[in-house]
Amino acid sequence: MKTLVAQVDILETMTPSSFSSFRDRLETASGFQSIQFRELEFLLGYKRSSTLAHVKPDFPGYDRLQRRLGESTVIDHFYDFLATRGAQIPPALKNRDLSQPNEPNEEVQREILRLYKSSPEVSILFELMTDFDEGLQEWRYRHIKLVERTIGAKRGTGGSPGVPFLKQSLFKPIFHDLWAIRHQM
Ligand code: HEM
Repeated sequence: MKTLVAQVDILETMTPSSFSSFRDRLETASGFQSIQFRELEFLLGYKRSSTLAHVKPDFPGYDRLQRRLGESTVIDHFYDFLATRGAQIPPALKNRDLSQPNEPNEEVQREILRLYKSSPEVSILFELMTDFDEGLQEWRYRHIKLVERTIGAKRGTGGSPGVPFLKQSLFKPIFHDLWAIRHQM
């Protein structure tokens, strides 16, 4: 994640006018077409079915993405892992609609807090997950600043309003429950 984030420094050496000189050639090409990025989001539990509208059904990987939308996420597997460590996971979370994003849950937070205090080896995993989550948020922030300084208020080549769209996911954690309890430790 650190390497991904640091790469933005290089692109930021490009001025708005040098980017404008070839931007037309991108036509409608955009990071929006990255099936892998969307797959990563879906897999992690940040499911936004509305983003599928920006991918044409005959685009390579569309079917895979559609399938991922209905599959268990890393967070669903995380619940299973917590259960193996004695956590009580609310049944509603086990039977949730998998096409929806994972939501924060206070009962899960209480169980995580308990494990933080009682299982040092599990707390290392929680910290590593938090590192990853922070890295993803850092990437979003650096990407937005890159976009802002290079195209400002222009719309994206992929068809979104650009910066306002990207800001919707800014500072949104993946592992909500790990962030929600930090003041209680
Ligand atoms: C000057 C360089 C860049 C500009 C101006 C730019 C601009 C944008 C804009 C405006 C969007 C919103 C979608 C749209 O309407 O097109 C977007 C999305 C995206 N871009 Fe970039 N981008 C740049 C560089 C990059 C780089 C280097 C990467 C990856 C290595 C990247 C990956 C993505 C991804 C994955 C999305 C989808 C994000 C999401 O849906 O939350 N972009 N980009």
